[in-house]
Amino acid sequence: MSDAIKVGFVPLSSAARGIMVVFCDDSLKVGPASAKALGGSIELVKRAAAAAAFKGKSGTVLDILAPEGVKATRLLVIGAGKASGLKANDFLKFGGVAAGKLPAGTAAMTLVAELPTGAMTSEQAATIASGLRLRAYKFDRYKTKKKDGEEGGSRADISLAVGDVAAAKKAFVAAGHVVDGVVIARDLVNEPPNVLFPEEFARRASQLRKLGVKVEVLDVKAMQKLGMGALLGVGQGSARPSRTVIMRWDGGKKGEAPVAFVGKGVCFDTGGISIKPAGSMEDMKGDMGGAACVVGLMHALAARKAKANVVGAIGLVENMPDGNAQRPGDIVTSMSGQTIEIINTDAEGRLVLADVLWYVAKKVKPKFMVDLATLTGAIVVALGTEHAGMFSNNDELADRLLAAGAESGEKVWRMPLGPEYDKLIDSQFADMKNTGGRHGGSITAAQFLQRFVDGTPWAHLDIAGTAMGAPKTDINHSWGAGYGVRLLDRLVADHYERK
Ligand code: BES
Ligand code: MN
Ligand code: ZN
Repeated sequence: MSDAIKVGFVPLSSAARGIMVVFCDDSLKVGPASAKALGGSIELVKRAAAAAAFKGKSGTVLDILAPEGVKATRLLVIGAGKASGLKANDFLKFGGVAAGKLPAGTAAMTLVAELPTGAMTSEQAATIASGLRLRAYKFDRYKTKKKDGEEGGSRADISLAVGDVAAAKKAFVAAGHVVDGVVIARDLVNEPPNVLFPEEFARRASQLRKLGVKVEVLDVKAMQKLGMGALLGVGQGSARPSRTVIMRWDGGKKGEAPVAFVGKGVCFDTGGISIKPAGSMEDMKGDMGGAACVVGLMHALAARKAKANVVGAIGLVENMPDGNAQRPGDIVTSMSGQTIEIINTDAEGRLVLADVLWYVAKKVKPKFMVDLATLTGAIVVALGTEHAGMFSNNDELADRLLAAGAESGEKVWRMPLGPEYDKLIDSQFADMKNTGGRHGGSITAAQFLQRFVDGTPWAHLDIAGTAMGAPKTDINHSWGAGYGVRLLDRLVADHYERK
């Protein structure tokens, strides 16, 4: 939530303040400015490296007291491996590793942004700065007692020494907006469910108006009028009324069809009448990770004034058991007119998305839709926390998402769709049922969604394993990961922005 660090840029030759960070390759070679700063100490540093068995492997660190003559307190040498063919994700990692070495509280750090071959590009330096911020993120809004060194707004002061200060600053303005988007998504996922319920979520999404995003909030009456019986059925057992929010950023050509992103926003998922076991149920406050990503993404795109037309749409509900809750056996009618037999009220995300996808397909007519949803436990069994599951009816879109995933480090793995899976959700009483049995649970969930895209090019990302609770990484120590913001920002930047 609050940034524990402040990042600025200085010329490459500046003297280091506080902790000095340099980069080396896997033969321990450093760049010219770093070599100059280390001066006569370079042999000593090599001895320290040998003693610590430090070989410059990508992302590893040699952490030593600054040698005599080096104007710094500590020296960190970060390995860049081969230091060639590095991806954006590598530079993020470098920043994350450096931030991980900051002591609590006030501290100063100077990173010499060069590789053995010379100064990093402004983009690369800005990406390191992003990695620093992502790693330093902390959600401590509800902690009334701070730990030692954390009191009263103390921030680390970080400088990146770069070849072109103005260009690096400019690159970090855009990159910083994307980090802000990730921070927004993380905050939303981390917030407790008594604070962040559908109306409050809609209110927070409405803050995007400040950036020039058009925000429309559909209340229960408006959704009833549209016939969104699938989404409303999920929310009817909650004391908190449901909402759908449509966000529109028009940064592209006037009249050009937008691209669209759709998010599952189940603010809390008890399972409903098919109630979940108590163990770890608190994690279901994060069942709105898809919607959080869409809001964070819209922030990133609008703040950096992306030259594209983009629509974000999120379905916000709370899935509760109650006298008004829907039952297994109920049949609901979706906005599309298709009827759904409820077998398990805990398969609620697909019901919410059914109506929002249909709404977007029909009213927005986008170039494509990508939905994000913490949809199934089965995807976590299949892919763990390293990849989101991707399902798509369009190879071009799928390939672009795969590439954006590799570049950003927010990886996706393509899963199959097909008529054999689709027939598993046929119902004896209605057009379909909302679960497909024990086998291929993530696939039958995706087949369900596909029945509501009406032929629109579409991809579904099942982010149940990646949105929250994944193991800590170099750039994320937060429970809510903000997964998907960087992936989709990249997708838009690479393929859908006017140059
Ligand atoms: N929100 C859950 C899926 C989930 C599980 C997300 C674990 C994150 C971590 C979803 O609504 C759900 O309950 N899915 C059921 C579907 C089943 C009833 C067909 C599941 O995965 O068990
Ligand atoms: Mn559920
Ligand atoms: Zn759910």
